[in-house]
Amino acid sequence: MKTELGEAQLLAQIDLDRLPQHIAMIMDGNGRWAKRRRLPRIAGHRAGIRAVRQAVEACARLGVPYLTLYAFSAENWKRPHTEIKLLMDLLREYLKKEIAELNKQNIRLGVIGRISELPKPVQRDLEIALENTRQNTGLRLTLALNYGARAEMVDAVRALAEKLRGNGSLAIDEASLSQHLYTRELPDPDLLIRTSGEMRVSNFLLWQIAYAEIWVTETLWPDFTQNDLFQAIIDYQRRERRYGGLGLG
Ligand code: FPP
Repeated sequence: MKTELGEAQLLAQIDLDRLPQHIAMIMDGNGRWAKRRRLPRIAGHRAGIRAVRQAVEACARLGVPYLTLYAFSAENWKRPHTEIKLLMDLLREYLKKEIAELNKQNIRLGVIGRISELPKPVQRDLEIALENTRQNTGLRLTLALNYGARAEMVDAVRALAEKLRGNGSLAIDEASLSQHLYTRELPDPDLLIRTSGEMRVSNFLLWQIAYAEIWVTETLWPDFTQNDLFQAIIDYQRRERRYGGLGLG
């Protein structure tokens, strides 16, 4: 039988010298969480914000330098208009309420995605939150908004082609392509976490997760706690990463 370990027991198993430097998360299962409670889907998204706070705080506490959250995919525009509007409102509420807490925890906010296609008021609130946390030197929290990995690669190739027109000698290789992705300031994720049991990567950071360890839990996103994150890190630290090599035998 699987017994639940407490926070102290989990923390004792984490090697702080071998933390994943970048954790990426696909936060899935808000709708199912709400449905099980006979609540509207938006109640699931609202509960999801609590889990966002937990995950952010856990990473900041441990000293994980980078956390990237898939908050709104380029495909999410296919949802009903009312759900999109409520998601955008929730995001704006989060941005406004959270700046003080982010500053208290020395967290710097970033965004990736086609931000210019988001509603103008959301863009404005994002700019304010980015500006007001720019000075922070702790956890770098990146929200993926209107994000799609294929669109990101198309944008990177377009940017590279644009530069090539001006400078015919520019190399097209892995390094230069990486440097034109939205994530150019971030290291590649070491650990990709997905909640709610789905075995998909859903067009998230496809280039960047080439060597990431993938950890999937049945837990629905609104139920995801700090202890779940600690467990993911413990499991990650037990795995042997070989990057295509033979490992240490
Ligand atoms: C997936 O659940 C979740 C989303 C599409 C959005 C994630 C948004 C939040 C956690 C809240 C806002 C976030 C921030 C950072 C302010 P789903 O609706 O696809 O769930 P289902 O698969 O069970 O239907």
